[in-house]
Amino acid sequence: MTMPRNTTVREPDVTNDRQGGRSATTPAVGIKDVAVRFRTKNRDVTALTDVDLDVRAGEFVAIVGPSGCGKSTLLKLVAGLLKPSTGDVLLGGERVQGPRHDIGYVFQRAALLEWRSARRNILLQAEMRKMPAELGRRRADELIAMTGLSGFEDALPHELSGGMQQRVALCRALLHEPPVLLMDEPFGALDALTREQMNTELNRIWRETGTTVLLVTHSISEACYLADRVVVMSARPGTITEIIDVGLPAERDYTDTMGRPEFREATTHIRGLLGAASAQD
Ligand SMILES: Nc1ncnc2c1ncn2[C@@H]1O[C@H](COP(=O)(O)OP(=O)(O)OP(=O)(O)O)[C@@H](O)[C@H]1O
Ligand SMILES: [Mg+2]
Repeated sequence: MTMPRNTTVREPDVTNDRQGGRSATTPAVGIKDVAVRFRTKNRDVTALTDVDLDVRAGEFVAIVGPSGCGKSTLLKLVAGLLKPSTGDVLLGGERVQGPRHDIGYVFQRAALLEWRSARRNILLQAEMRKMPAELGRRRADELIAMTGLSGFEDALPHELSGGMQQRVALCRALLHEPPVLLMDEPFGALDALTREQMNTELNRIWRETGTTVLLVTHSISEACYLADRVVVMSARPGTITEIIDVGLPAERDYTDTMGRPEFREATTHIRGLLGAASAQD
């Protein structure tokens, strides 16, 4: 099921039933006073400390911060791939106790199986979840059309451009209609123009699916173009320095957005917080 979004109103999506019948005010993701410490043979690293963040259902939150400040660690906590040393992580109000198979995860590299076509890479998600075959096929077709991959369903990964491969990875992550989509620098390896195009598409897909998104990026402009709110983190031990409300409508034309005062204000502010040397554009 896809939920069309209102393009300007930023109210919680009360019609979104992906919270398992919970109140629409229950955050899709809750991070409560979390700290993560890694103990290895040679050193103890405090990766995160005092992290508090609530993400509304249907909200798009971008996370920026210097390398090593714990951004990937934060996504792994939400996915249940890591346990916090202290504090709690909640998904739809429920404590995350182990790996969560209901979420979607997109990594920096598409990680596709070279011997499978685009379509069969997308359907891998359905096979792993033992989804009814017909449902998986229908959903894959919808996503292929939505991401502009029509005509390339049978292509092998090496026959696709980097941007197309990332689109396949995005389709695979969205196949089971995850309530939360986690993206860890998904466009970092793409050239600037393809990245722009993917940003525009991701904005549209987010509006069309109503999925809650947590995106880690090193690009301040990507964060401000895509997100409702941008979480700025400090250097290790990573903690939240500030959360910036970008204040733009959900539907965003790329060029128009770049010229808007709200966009310029947000990017300038974030650049100031991070220090020019540690951030991309
Ligand atoms: N499994 C682990 N064992 C030990 N230390 C770890 C582990 N995972 C991460 N760390 C440490 O935790 C800190 C945060 O790592 P993390 O990968 O979350 O950073 P990041 O913000 O995603 O960085 P980047 O922008 O470079 O991807 C780093 O100092 C890293 O060395
Ligand atoms: Mg990382």
